[in-house]
Amino acid sequence: MTLLEASDIRISRRAYIPELISDEKKTALLSIIADIQARSGIRIKLMEDGENCFSLIKSYGMFSGVRSYFALIGNSDDPKMHEKIGYFGEELVLEATRLGLGTCWVAGSYDKSSVSLKLGEKESLACVISVGEIKETENLKEKFLSGIIKTKRKSPEEMSIGYATAPEWFKKGVECAVNAPSARNKQPVIFEYSADKATARVNGNFSFNKIDLGIAEYHFELGSGNKITEF
Ligand SMILES: Cc1cc2nc3c(=O)[nH]c(=O)nc-3n(C[C@H](O)[C@H](O)[C@H](O)COP(=O)(O)O)c2cc1C
Repeated sequence: MTLLEASDIRISRRAYIPELISDEKKTALLSIIADIQARSGIRIKLMEDGENCFSLIKSYGMFSGVRSYFALIGNSDDPKMHEKIGYFGEELVLEATRLGLGTCWVAGSYDKSSVSLKLGEKESLACVISVGEIKETENLKEKFLSGIIKTKRKSPEEMSIGYATAPEWFKKGVECAVNAPSARNKQPVIFEYSADKATARVNGNFSFNKIDLGIAEYHFELGSGNKITEF
């Protein structure tokens, strides 16, 4: 499965088999994380104490069986920290999808104070991503909900300016960005094609919006084959 194919089948998964990830898949994830860390300037830690911060109450009953999750840590001095977290975190999500694992970006419905991390002076925990083997029976509900949510996705035209007259590569980029996850499925990112160039922006300076921006940019680059970010 290619990363592009993974972007097409990925949906958020919130019900997991309550076991640790197999050694083989864990080794693969750790090597992907090492590669991402070497070129991104963000820190990603695979945590295995998910039962603490994703308990029934702490996850508002939305998650079950979470043992593993990625903690995404940035440098608070970096103005692009949240955008980078979104961009490189989504690469990790799609790599995990290729390994057959379920994932869900989580910025709100977990207990941040239960994450047992030692942070450096300038480090900040931006959000986490749950990861694990999918519990299919409970995910029938998830699939149903996601089917409803997917029908509520914006169209490529709604997510961009200049779509109708843009070249094919831009259209493919926006189409891939339509499938990108976003906080509360708000899809706040707008792509613009102008003077032979694509740009992406998001209104407001909220940290979740910036994470959404990075995630959508990653999808755009994957779909279009063209780089629009500078990192
Ligand atoms: C930055 C970010 C934060 C999110 N936070 C949460 C969360 O706290 N709880 C949750 O259940 N889902 C969370 N999600 C998942 C979104 O609800 C989900 O991606 C969106 O509804 C689209 O559905 P899909 O991922 O199945 O395509 C978050 C997603 C993103 C990108």
